[in-house]
Amino acid sequence: MKLSATTAQNSFKYGWLLSRIWPYIKPYMFRIILGFLVAIPLGLLDGVTAFALKPYMDYVIGGKSFEFSLLNHPFVITSVQMAVILPIGVILFAAIQGVLRYTNGYLSSWTSAHITNDVKFDLFERLIHMHPQFFDENSSGIIISRYMGDPGTASAGIVDNIKTITTSLFGALGLIAVMLYSSWKLAIIGVVVLCVAFLPVALIRKRIKAASNKNMVIGGNITTNINETYNGNKVMAAYGLQERQNKYFKDQTWESYNVGMSLYKRSGWMSPLMYLIASFGIATVLGVGTYLINSGQMTAGSFASFVTSLLLLYKPVKTLGNTLTGIQNIFVAMGRIFELFDLEPEIKDSPNARELKGLNESIKFENVEFEYIPNHPVLKNLNLEVKKNETLAIVGNSGGGKSTLVNLLPRFYDIKSGAIKFDGTDIREYTIESLRQNISMVFQDNFLFSGTIRENIMMGNPSASEQELRQAIESAHLQEMIADLPDGLESMLGERGLTLSGGQRQRVAIARAMLRNAPIVILDEATSALDNESEAIVQKAMDNLMKNRTVFIIAHRLSTIKNANRIAVINEGELVELGTHEELMSIPEGEYKTLYEMQFKKQDTEEESTIGAL
Ligand SMILES: Nc1ncnc2c1ncn2[C@@H]1O[C@H](COP(=O)(O)OP(=O)(O)OP(=O)(O)O)[C@@H](O)[C@H]1O
Ligand SMILES: [Mg+2]
Repeated sequence: MKLSATTAQNSFKYGWLLSRIWPYIKPYMFRIILGFLVAIPLGLLDGVTAFALKPYMDYVIGGKSFEFSLLNHPFVITSVQMAVILPIGVILFAAIQGVLRYTNGYLSSWTSAHITNDVKFDLFERLIHMHPQFFDENSSGIIISRYMGDPGTASAGIVDNIKTITTSLFGALGLIAVMLYSSWKLAIIGVVVLCVAFLPVALIRKRIKAASNKNMVIGGNITTNINETYNGNKVMAAYGLQERQNKYFKDQTWESYNVGMSLYKRSGWMSPLMYLIASFGIATVLGVGTYLINSGQMTAGSFASFVTSLLLLYKPVKTLGNTLTGIQNIFVAMGRIFELFDLEPEIKDSPNARELKGLNESIKFENVEFEYIPNHPVLKNLNLEVKKNETLAIVGNSGGGKSTLVNLLPRFYDIKSGAIKFDGTDIREYTIESLRQNISMVFQDNFLFSGTIRENIMMGNPSASEQELRQAIESAHLQEMIADLPDGLESMLGERGLTLSGGQRQRVAIARAMLRNAPIVILDEATSALDNESEAIVQKAMDNLMKNRTVFIIAHRLSTIKNANRIAVINEGELVELGTHEELMSIPEGEYKTLYEMQFKKQDTEEESTIGAL
């Protein structure tokens, strides 16, 4: 399935999405609730400074004593004492708020990182089991952003939002309480104006969403561009494609800039507008406040508290507004995540799959039809039987379907119709794991993982003994090369094993396949020409791997073809000829004969002349 970079189908089913994310949140509920509980006083304490202004103005500046009774005891706090107590109180509360803020921040970072990790682990687990076609269809940029970016957005988003919403909400409530306490009449004016000021927020939600979708697509394109620049750096250098890559990168980056700027043009007026509306509110409050003070309905201290609260209120309300707007993005990310969770690998075990334990008789292709893209047949009605321990060489035109044919054996792709049978049983009736366990593959372009040579060879069979490893290395004729390396077997290979030559890489792959010791061997011979010496050594390594095994070898060299028991000629997806070298050569104007005349005869005479010269 081709993944979209933007929204998934279920991005707007909020209840469903929450029920899906719940199992990830549940284990951390205790800490989330704790964070929530801490966020309440954290928010409420915002009002303290504003609240402290009233007694400060009324008693300290007004020069009055504060008299009150506690448990029937009269207490008096003089204005001088008040001048000391209040600032200390403000500092003390700020310190308490600091501790709470740290605790709350720590808890939310901790929980969001844990939830993100859990989601990422499960997603990656899914990714590694996806079928090859999935990787054919989706660019690396999309895969990275969807598998690695979204989990953070979703999980961190949820936890951060709980944190932000609670602190802002309780911050606002605390300030509103101070305002109400100072003067309920003014408070009503203040709150109404604030609500009006935030109306525009609701209006631009859609624009923000559209822009963030667009930026996601661009982000994916840029990642793909960087990956291609990395992986294709030699082709880029050889063909002077730097400018092409550069231009694409610049175009995409500017595109992202344009999206951002157009969003700003369309929504950037919001904040100034909000301030303008709020200033009307403040002007009104100042007027009404002056009237209330003059008419003795309010003290100057209450008024100071009120105005400070009103000014402080702007921040939590704005944060609240932004957060509520941003929640949409979290659901979109969640929708994308759970779409990935619901992707079933198209190639999977059938319900009653059983273990494949070696090959006893033969491998059979029966009326096999296959296509990558619907209605573009790649293999057409293919019938073929390969006996146990037989070596079948496959030749044919480029793009004819040779690699495809062998990729069907380990079920990298499933056929459209017909059957592939091992010992008379359809391969789809075996477990994929056991099927692949019975096959050693050496690919046309062998991929080595970053790590040591030892690790790369041991991948063939992680439980192999040191003795078996040494044997595999010998059979692959790697011992000399390894001895020449500074760290021997422990030498590190680059991310793509690039420090080795083509022939060496191929022999590492052969050693890996050797160690697997599987009864079926698939070899996609490298098309690239190796020099004579390397070729001879690779040939020897391959011969060792092929001994006493059932082998499919896509052959490009005459020596391999001649060593095979039979040769299959695949042209345009059809098996056109099958037989030994001699049999096929005896068909007048046969496909193989033509191919031989064109490609191999030269090699043949070269070999003869080499032998003759010896
Ligand atoms: N992953 C894929 N998705 C879609 N089409 C594909 C894929 N792999 C191969 N094809 C197409 O299938 C056809 C057969 O390709 P295949 O790689 O099997 O050819 P081949 O015989 O191995 O060629 P060569 O000798 O050049 O390696 C080609 O037309 C190719 O474009
Ligand atoms: Mg091929």
